Amino acid sequence: RKARVTVIGSLNVDMVTVTSTIPEQGETVQGDRFATLCGGKGANQAIACARLGAEVRFIGCVGDDTFGRMMLDNLQQEQIHTEGVDIISEVASGTASIIVNDGDNRIIVVPGANGLLTPDHIRRHAETIRSSDVILMQLEIPLPAVREALSIAAESHVPVILNPAPAMPLTDEMLAHVSILTPNEHELAALFGGDDSEQAFEWKTAIRSMPGRIVLTRGADGAYWSDTACHLHHQPGYEVNVIDTTGAGDTFNGALAVLLAEGNSMDDAVHGAVAASALAVTQFGAQSGMPTRSRLEQQLKED
Ligand code: RIB
Ligand code: NA
Repeated sequence: RKARVTVIGSLNVDMVTVTSTIPEQGETVQGDRFATLCGGKGANQAIACARLGAEVRFIGCVGDDTFGRMMLDNLQQEQIHTEGVDIISEVASGTASIIVNDGDNRIIVVPGANGLLTPDHIRRHAETIRSSDVILMQLEIPLPAVREALSIAAESHVPVILNPAPAMPLTDEMLAHVSILTPNEHELAALFGGDDSEQAFEWKTAIRSMPGRIVLTRGADGAYWSDTACHLHHQPGYEVNVIDTTGAGDTFNGALAVLLAEGNSMDDAVHGAVAASALAVTQFGAQSGMPTRSRLEQQLKED
């Protein structure tokens, strides 16, 4: 049967402006391209999972507005189950204003409805959590909801992959319930109270401090993880024509979740996840470019 992944997280509409110049305070510049696209770390990760052939269920919130309907349609078009998505009136759907400059991005997220995901909402879908092969979460929803999902999953021994993005510190109690953390360097520093602007922050030491449970993503450099014997593994990145890095981490997380849920080894899962995110950044927008299963298999055969 298909791997069963439940994604608990955010849905945002991404308002993306591509520009070669970023305005200074008080300045107006002319950009090159604008698009309104479905995004949000939760939705992006769910779509990455669905494209790779998993059975995906989503738990989250949208507003009772045009954007909310657009995002629900988008999930449904990808065969994602949306019974876990509440439509909340009198609040706007989540949005992300994104400036893409030279392939890189700057993002302002306004959580809107995502900020109203409660522990009670999570409890109403406890059975969905319990019947999953893996739970995938991020930090664009309120921490009490994340904490509730972690404890339901822990009680029923369902593994949880937590992408700790955006960066913030988490309590030891929360970390204890996570099976695998997938930070980038900046997020790893936030988790371990380090400051990544200081040379002193040693990401290799941080990875080894939770042996077998941290997969660090490093953009073009690929990903690193330590096995339970504290041996560091590196999956190098791919050389690709980068158009838009938005959603690269989400593609990585979705692919990792599906490949692990299917019972692949960590080495193979990380390899597939790095390949999937390399394919995703060659197209504009967070969700376009996320590979189907056959596209990913084709890429892995060429390696
Ligand atoms: O990870 C990328 C996502 O982060 C974007 O789609 C945007 O919505 C922000 O939440
Ligand atoms: Na893309």
